[in-house]
Amino acid sequence: MIPLQELIKNTSPEKALALLADKFPGEIVFSTSLGYEDQVVSHIIFSNNLPIDVFTLDTGRLFNETYSVLNSTLERFQTPIKVFYPQTEALEKMVSNKGPLSFYESIDNRKECCFIRKVEPLKRALKGKKIWITGIRSEQSGNRQDMPLLEWDEGNQITKFHPILHWTLDEVKAYIIKHNIPYNPLHDRGFVSIGCAPCTRAIKDGEDFRAGRWWWEQNDKKECGLHSK
Ligand code: ADX
Ligand code: SF4
Repeated sequence: MIPLQELIKNTSPEKALALLADKFPGEIVFSTSLGYEDQVVSHIIFSNNLPIDVFTLDTGRLFNETYSVLNSTLERFQTPIKVFYPQTEALEKMVSNKGPLSFYESIDNRKECCFIRKVEPLKRALKGKKIWITGIRSEQSGNRQDMPLLEWDEGNQITKFHPILHWTLDEVKAYIIKHNIPYNPLHDRGFVSIGCAPCTRAIKDGEDFRAGRWWWEQNDKKECGLHSK
């Protein structure tokens, strides 16, 4: 059997996604945060009619602009995007006990919120799947620099594929413009990596791509737990 790495080596993202979709029918999903990169991947999937289910995790704390992108993406491609929500009971308990802004108070609280609002719903979204596609780019952070295109995610017991891993931000922007793809207007206001509204700010010239995420925390490995690396 040809290893997956060999199968997708030196192929375009379109071709690689088509090959994987063919090899894993019903077991391949793409998670979109509706940011720049993910809009590129959605465009590739939808415009080629690839049989890959697309989902998003609605934490309940997203920017209004992000919901508008979801809406315009649904209108543009006329293809459903499945939305996963946090479990009501856990969310109600956390917010009732700790208030709506507990994530600013400690890293543990922040991780608890990310777990309830993102990580647990992600686990449900990936259940029974074999391939998880993301819009990660290596340029986005130090931890992502050495990522391979295909990798085994031990925590989620799934193979991850990052089809635009080696694209630059300029390539992403050019693709968005060329294909007239709806995108989050916050990207034009200094927001590079966009997550939840209370935990994302714009970055200044020269700042790290992820400097606007959980900016009040001092640790340099700022991830929410969706991606272990
Ligand atoms: S995070 O770990 O910091 O939140 P980041 O915003 O860099 O992730 O996005 C990396 C990839 O994770 C995206 O390309 C997308 O595949 C996935 N992702 C992030 N946030 C979401 C979300 N809310 N819903 C679905 N997928 C997401
Ligand atoms: Fe909660 Fe902020 Fe994590 Fe969103 S990014 S899930 S609001 S801690």
